[in-house]
Amino acid sequence: MKYTYIFSILIIQILFSCSPNQENENNESLAHVETTKDQHTRANIEEIRTTHLHLELDINFENKTIYGVARHQMSENNIDHAIFDIKGLEIIKTTVGEKEETATDFTISKEDELLGSALTVKIEPGTQFINIYYQTTENSEALDWLPAELTEGKVHPYLYTQGQAILTRSWIPLQDSPMNRITYSADITVPSELIAVMSADNPTEKNAEGEYHFMMKQKIPSYLIALAVGDLVYTSLGENCGIYSEKELADACAYEFGDLPKMISAAEGLYGEYLWDQYDIVMLPYSFPFGGMENPRLTFANPTILAGDRSSTSVIAHELAHSWSGNLVTNATWDDFWLNEGFTVYFENRIMEEIYGKETADVLATIEYQDLTASIKDIENGDFPEDTRLKLELNERNPDEGMTDIAYVKGAFFLRTLENTVGRKKMDVFLNQYFLDHAFQSITTEVFVEDLKTKLLEPTNIDFNIDEWIYQAGLPENHIKIDSKKLAKMIAIAEKANAGKDIFLNDFKGAKRNDFITQEWLTFFRTLSPEVSIKTMEKLDKQFLFSSESNAIIKSDWFKLSAQTHYRAQNVEMQKYLIKIGRRWLIEGIYQILMDSKETVDHDFARETFELAKDGYHFVSRSTIEEVVK
Ligand code: BES
Ligand code: ZN
Repeated sequence: MKYTYIFSILIIQILFSCSPNQENENNESLAHVETTKDQHTRANIEEIRTTHLHLELDINFENKTIYGVARHQMSENNIDHAIFDIKGLEIIKTTVGEKEETATDFTISKEDELLGSALTVKIEPGTQFINIYYQTTENSEALDWLPAELTEGKVHPYLYTQGQAILTRSWIPLQDSPMNRITYSADITVPSELIAVMSADNPTEKNAEGEYHFMMKQKIPSYLIALAVGDLVYTSLGENCGIYSEKELADACAYEFGDLPKMISAAEGLYGEYLWDQYDIVMLPYSFPFGGMENPRLTFANPTILAGDRSSTSVIAHELAHSWSGNLVTNATWDDFWLNEGFTVYFENRIMEEIYGKETADVLATIEYQDLTASIKDIENGDFPEDTRLKLELNERNPDEGMTDIAYVKGAFFLRTLENTVGRKKMDVFLNQYFLDHAFQSITTEVFVEDLKTKLLEPTNIDFNIDEWIYQAGLPENHIKIDSKKLAKMIAIAEKANAGKDIFLNDFKGAKRNDFITQEWLTFFRTLSPEVSIKTMEKLDKQFLFSSESNAIIKSDWFKLSAQTHYRAQNVEMQKYLIKIGRRWLIEGIYQILMDSKETVDHDFARETFELAKDGYHFVSRSTIEEVVK
């Protein structure tokens, strides 16, 4: 039954799969449009699509409001209305026309809590230009307006946007679906002490007028439109790469990302030319809800990756890899999210292996595997056990719920296992071709599966359990096993401690925190039993200063262990951490363990901390943690 279903989808996909390479011109026709439905948009993209978007925006920090107009150039059409997604926006008026504009009617549907509203604009069939005048509101969830106190410099405010997955509609009225790809341009006005940067071609210096012009000439999905405004300086790191940061962080950034030019060459060596010209990073404030976000030409990054020892550079390898997997070849719907993230984690690891060697790559993959097994357990015990499938079904659910280790790590292990089966050489030839064939396209899982069968497995006569990996729950038995000697050593020490032996006598005698790399500590903490004594926790903290001085990655796991073992002596440090850092993957688990505790003091502590911290979090983290502490 399921087979027939998948098969018929496949046939439809093959017949209708779009090839936007040929639909690059404005005023294109939608005659060949895909039949796949994106459940997370209200826009009528099967009838009319934006091809180019021009933004004219005034960024007002006093009112924490963006005032502007979104000018949409539309595809050839024969329809009397165009529907756009909006959420938390105030629409002022709509017009049609390019040089001369005529007002036209619009209606706004009732707001859906998840998707927002449908903004329907009345048009004459064939209309080419639709202009939407609007302003953002305090419910514009993509926007994080930071007061000066929450920046490094503490003098100027900061603003950044986070579009993925469906938040772009909360700062720009548009067809917010990854199935549609558009070019965009923008005229942005900001206070003259600040500079604006976007996922486009960027200025490297401020100008006295505070007026900046941007162009993204390649077609991208709407979730990749991004803006950051702050008191930033630019540090070049190579011919086509560099970093924007507050001046206080410029040196730390230059050191931490010193290997960026090498990473770009390694990535190009693996999967073909970098097609976006420039690769820059902008260092955002600590509230940024992710480690990194792959906005094209300009990765957005969280300062927690400034570990001081380049131990978090894999995050940059990851965001860079998205320049191929995700930005060049994009998931058509959020059910296909693993196409973005699974490929990227695989690719990230290949970059890390090229630069730092197999041992480092294996250490990283082993940590991922630890995360994956824990996540599978959680998901299997949760409300949606079917979420351990790679291809998701997120109808009427927040696409954010697909952001689990399944897409990331099960996805990567699928590709690693495949590589192990067909051999690296054939795998790389296939992937190079995949990125070429689907460059600037948004594709479904089924298009990938068809490619895999016809271009890799059938020609080599290799059998592979694709269906089990993609459409069935859990982790298939044949997954590749990766282990690392370096981490095995830490497991052994932790197991000794679990067995009640004194690890301070020999193993850790005279040792310092920096004698071990971040991933060794993570493995050590994860192997320690939650029954480990408070005494041991105290001794560890005294010797290695985890609570007070370790990097943000180590602290996250250490505080989880602290919560599990009810080691509360350093709750002040834990609270400081949770107030300062808004990166969701680092803080969510700590709150969760505190709330899972049997003791109400832990719940009270979590809730009290959230109250103190929440105004400093971006909507993405605030809403997740709110659910946890509720
Ligand atoms: N694209 C993601 C972040 C994202 C996913 C935002 C879904 C919104 C919805 C980004 O590339 C990412 O995966 N970041 C990770 C990096 C890590 C896996 C190396 C992060 O933030 O930690
Ligand atoms: Zn990613």
